[in-house]
Amino acid sequence: MLRNKKVVIIGGSSGIGLESAKQLVAQGAEVIIASRSEEKLRIAKEQLGVRATTFTLDTTQEQQVQSFFEKIGQFDHLVISAAETSGGSFLQTDTAQARQLFENKFWGQYYAAKYGASKISPNGSITLFSGVVGYKSMVGSAMLGAVNAAVSNLGQTLALELAPIRVNIVSPGIIDTPSRSKMPEEARNNFYATVENKLPVKRIGRAEDVAQSVLYLLQNSFVTGTVLHVEGGHILA
Ligand SMILES: NC(=O)c1ccc[n+]([C@@H]2O[C@H](COP(=O)([O-])OP(=O)(O)OC[C@H]3O[C@@H](n4cnc5c(N)ncnc54)[C@H](OP(=O)(O)O)[C@@H]3O)[C@@H](O)[C@H]2O)c1
Repeated sequence: MLRNKKVVIIGGSSGIGLESAKQLVAQGAEVIIASRSEEKLRIAKEQLGVRATTFTLDTTQEQQVQSFFEKIGQFDHLVISAAETSGGSFLQTDTAQARQLFENKFWGQYYAAKYGASKISPNGSITLFSGVVGYKSMVGSAMLGAVNAAVSNLGQTLALELAPIRVNIVSPGIIDTPSRSKMPEEARNNFYATVENKLPVKRIGRAEDVAQSVLYLLQNSFVTGTVLHVEGGHILA
């Protein structure tokens, strides 16, 4: 079903996006991965092989996003896992940093959906990325929670407006990806141990867990407007 499909993954040079690209290539799809860092793209390309093409792109730059889609032409599916996120106390986080979260994770996905939509085949799809703190309030996640909730709402409305293109949203829980590489190792391990202990599944998520859900959303033509929670029961815990 994914053989020879052309899939664009913005954020495909790392973590969940890269793992999705690997699983798609294994299914015979052609992938176009885009992100800001040439170095990350080069390393990803080495892992993905000849069925992958890379583009440098910063989704916060509207013009860049528009010309990226003009360059690549028609394709089947769009996955937007690009994001750089941060947390912090609501009162102590300055407004510029809070706005930056929206610039990167909300507006980046907005621009990609806006300029990518007309290039997607009618039986294709868009997959946006939200996250568990959009559904479970946690101290230190006021802004990220708001961004994630906004992305889900945008995606559900786009499922109506962009039909017959399907639009779905993946909402990952705590997943072990390079997104936490700047965190000191001990703090990261302690954080993971605390979450693992709390979750019904008793483990942290892997990029593979979420990538499987991305492939499901691309393939199931009866699913649109869905927020797919891949979070080990975190909302219930
Ligand atoms: N990991 C988790 O625990 C978790 C939890 C909840 C939700 N999520 C969501 O899941 C999605 C994927 O996260 P991940 O853990 O796979 O993150 P990751 O490993 O850090 O990968 C993020 C990707 O986005 C790219 N990127 C960041 N800002 C960009 C921009 N402005 N323009 C273009 N590309 C950009 C990065 O590459 P460059 O640096 O080269 O640009 C990288 O390829 C994100 O939406 C994240 O918020 C993750």
